[in-house]
Amino acid sequence: MRCRWKLSGRGPRPPPCRAFSLTAQESMNWVLCVFLQIRSSEEGLVYTQSLACTFGDACCWWVGPWHAIVCIFHPTCIKPVLFAPAAIAPKDEFFYSFLKPWLGDGLLLSSGDKWSRHRRMLTPAFHFNILKPYMKIFNESVNIMHAKWQCLASEGSARLDMFEHISLMTLDSLQKCVFSFDSHCQEKPSEYIAAILELSALVSKRHHETLLHLDFLYYLTPDGRRFRRACRLVHDFTDAVIQERRRTLPSQGVDDFLQAKAKSKTLDFIDVLLLSKDEDGKELSDEDIRAEADTFMFEGHDTTASGLSWVLYHLAKHPEYQERCRREVQELLKDREPKEIEWDDLAQLPFLTMCVKESLRLHPPVPVISRHVTQDIVVPDGRVIPKGVICLISVLGTHHNPTVWPDPEVLPAPSRLPHPPFLSISRLLEEGAGF
Ligand code: HEM
Repeated sequence: MRCRWKLSGRGPRPPPCRAFSLTAQESMNWVLCVFLQIRSSEEGLVYTQSLACTFGDACCWWVGPWHAIVCIFHPTCIKPVLFAPAAIAPKDEFFYSFLKPWLGDGLLLSSGDKWSRHRRMLTPAFHFNILKPYMKIFNESVNIMHAKWQCLASEGSARLDMFEHISLMTLDSLQKCVFSFDSHCQEKPSEYIAAILELSALVSKRHHETLLHLDFLYYLTPDGRRFRRACRLVHDFTDAVIQERRRTLPSQGVDDFLQAKAKSKTLDFIDVLLLSKDEDGKELSDEDIRAEADTFMFEGHDTTASGLSWVLYHLAKHPEYQERCRREVQELLKDREPKEIEWDDLAQLPFLTMCVKESLRLHPPVPVISRHVTQDIVVPDGRVIPKGVICLISVLGTHHNPTVWPDPEVLPAPSRLPHPPFLSISRLLEEGAGF
């Protein structure tokens, strides 16, 4: 909204952005550019690809006379931004603000010291020993989804919306991993899961309704009221689990609690959050725990559902790859009963792994992320991203940039996977976490 007003404003032309020059035509197009980039439509994808082809590493749009947006789609320019300390390139609030009433100050939306402290406290949640037992949960959830598909196929259904089914499966898995709660949401309606799906859809819809970016207007609309109601429901659920867990923790004592959990071999995310302490021995508040748990439910379900749906799409379009993946899995499981993938198997599926990576390259579930640059950042060739600009890091543009991948639109022959060089933006994100 702020940007739209600036665009129509008349005023003195700003000094040229020192880093990236701009022609009048690009300037006129900026609304379209940003709008299309946020939209996950076919046009948005094609537009982003064309930007990378035209500009190579970055381009810049002036938003009215004062504001510039720099869009980057090359690793050499992305690195200095992602590796800058969190205070120099914090997340840009405009792009994430609609999630705030739902996700609060969880890792995705927090910044500064709070983000650094929580990031350190949550690192143990990603330890292999915590993640390994979740494989059982993933297998169970996927088996439920497969059984549904078999049933639909036997009834003669020729079409189904994969993304819908896979989203329910990822939410089912997450609810079990985060809260140890089984809502059977894949088999019957669950109010809580329906609320998360509704919140995700409402946030995405609001991005395209510029007038409703204003809170006071949005909350007067039926969508705004639905958003408030769904937020309340989700928060109530998370609060209830935290309260219940807090009640059992003191009576049991931390050691007994951990021992009991060690027997069942599953420490869920709420446990990790309740047990984590910072360097000064300070625990997370209930509000912090709720924000982190809600953030994981959101961040974890949509991304993985989108990623998996695209993998299935690509395998369906390329039967020769599908066949090689199938043979690889069948070979691995041939002498095994029950036929379930275990943690250590993941390293034994190189071809399937390459197909997943290639699919994530072609259709990254998070196509763009944004940062607000608070101090000049110098890129390797000496150009400067000046203080005050918003940086859009186009994951999609980078993955389709012909100066990074020759023939980025062509899927290499199975014998030539992975498509060199496979660059994972998520690795850059991890390495450049700035904490
Ligand atoms: C294919 C799957 C996934 C993709 C492509 C993905 C992608 C991303 C990206 C690009 C960001 C950076 C956002 C930014 O810095 O502006 C991010 C952050 C985050 N993701 Fe994911 N994600 C995936 C799966 C998950 C899962 C399964 C979880 C949790 C269960 C998760 C939790 C988070 C959290 C908590 C953050 C914020 C981290 C921070 O700022 O410190 N993600 N993700």
